[in-house]
Amino acid sequence: DGFSSDRLFNQGYSYTYDDVIFLPHYIDFPTDSVHLASNLSRRIPLSIPCVSSPMDTVTESHMAISMAALGGIGIIHSNLTSSEQAHMVRSVKSRRVPLLSNPVFKSPSDRIQSDDVFDASNPYVLVTESGSPNSKLLGYVAGKDWVKLGDKEVKIYDYMVNCTDFTVPWSYDLGDLVATVRENEVVDVVAKEQVERIKGYPKLGVGTVGPDGTWRVGAAIGTRESDKERLEELVKAGVDVVVLDSSQGNSIYQIEMIKYVKKLYSNLDVVGGNVVTVSQAQNLIQAGVDGLRVGMGSGSICTTQEVCAVGRGQATAVYKVASIASQSGVPVIADGGISNSGHIVKALVLGASTVMMGSFLAGSTEAPGVFVYQNGRRVKKYRGMGSLEAMTKGSDQRYLGDTAKLKIAQGVVGAVADKGSVLKFIPYTMQAVKQGFQDLGASSLQSAHDLLKSSVLRLEVRTGAAQVEGGVHGLVSYEKKSF
Ligand code: XMP
Repeated sequence: DGFSSDRLFNQGYSYTYDDVIFLPHYIDFPTDSVHLASNLSRRIPLSIPCVSSPMDTVTESHMAISMAALGGIGIIHSNLTSSEQAHMVRSVKSRRVPLLSNPVFKSPSDRIQSDDVFDASNPYVLVTESGSPNSKLLGYVAGKDWVKLGDKEVKIYDYMVNCTDFTVPWSYDLGDLVATVRENEVVDVVAKEQVERIKGYPKLGVGTVGPDGTWRVGAAIGTRESDKERLEELVKAGVDVVVLDSSQGNSIYQIEMIKYVKKLYSNLDVVGGNVVTVSQAQNLIQAGVDGLRVGMGSGSICTTQEVCAVGRGQATAVYKVASIASQSGVPVIADGGISNSGHIVKALVLGASTVMMGSFLAGSTEAPGVFVYQNGRRVKKYRGMGSLEAMTKGSDQRYLGDTAKLKIAQGVVGAVADKGSVLKFIPYTMQAVKQGFQDLGASSLQSAHDLLKSSVLRLEVRTGAAQVEGGVHGLVSYEKKSF
């Protein structure tokens, strides 16, 4: 019944996740016996197979901390200066709980508008003498007080709460006190409401911590000369893995960079990509990559396939690359095109070790940026790193050759609906993925890969009508009215 994966993916068609469907297998264990532990790259184990994409509307410190707390990992984007990126890595490493980061600093004479600065992850503005983090703390302004003022632009000075109290344990002696005062720069604000908020979320087991007990975090870099300095700064900040960020990874530039990283920092994992074919993958494996990122033009904001006429359906790409990468023990990251838990099941069973997500995470509390109201819905901006808007800010290296002068967009800017906190919806998503694995009789990623390879798991292609049938259909919206 159905086709083996080998037969299905060798017919000359490029399939994406929605094109294919698994036939159910046999269940002989409960959902709780499904384990989704996996590896991002050779030396980075994860307890859930989830990675947040290095995009400037997806992963900065707050997202990376939360992904690590859940047992996944975040990759900090590189559309900022190397010292800003290194600062974000340090900020992830300096925390224990998945709370906010990146406090905003202002001076008393500054003016702010509430929608400039305040959101769920930034409920306070810290007021220092000069308006920068390295000067004396004078007080704070709370977002909830500011909201009462409406949209008026007001001077901070009139609304700040002075912050003169500083308490230490009674057992401190003078030496401790002096050291504390000297050491205490303001690094963050933790609000009581947020502590309450994270207490309520389901737990998913262990977080992703390295041998030194800090959260693990990755960072994206490019392949230019200046990226070698970026790399050094990131390594000093304690980065655990670097991801070479390119839409077509099979290039001399990337191969040289992989060799450079491995020669200089043999214990630092380097992920190469993106690739979608067996020969692209083979080249990067030969160069020494520790992980491969798979996908070209399958992302929700991507226009690469339309603009450049290259790419591959994501289900085929993941299957083909994973089949070759598994022979060398190189984990595959299925990057882009994930919009529901079923897509995650498909990516993982087809051979991926993890899924990398952009739009799926972009509307969350932890994503950078502020929520705005659009046609009565709360939304956050989500943009392709190859969109003109993002490239103007600096991400052109991923999409342009070194000498290109004209910028050709390979992505778009849009908005995604408010999804709440990743700490809440990722555990639910993982539970759904476990149920998918149970239906297939696979209790782990390894067992799913084995069942697929031995042709026990069977698949079929869905016709257009079968895809419509497989989604919600034939309903009108139900509004409860009382007569
Ligand atoms: P999703 O579907 O999760 O995809 O939103 C995220 C992935 O899309 C890639 N990406 C782009 N691809 N033009 C592209 O062709 C772009 O502007 C762009 N920006 C991001 C990237 O691999 C990301 O992880």
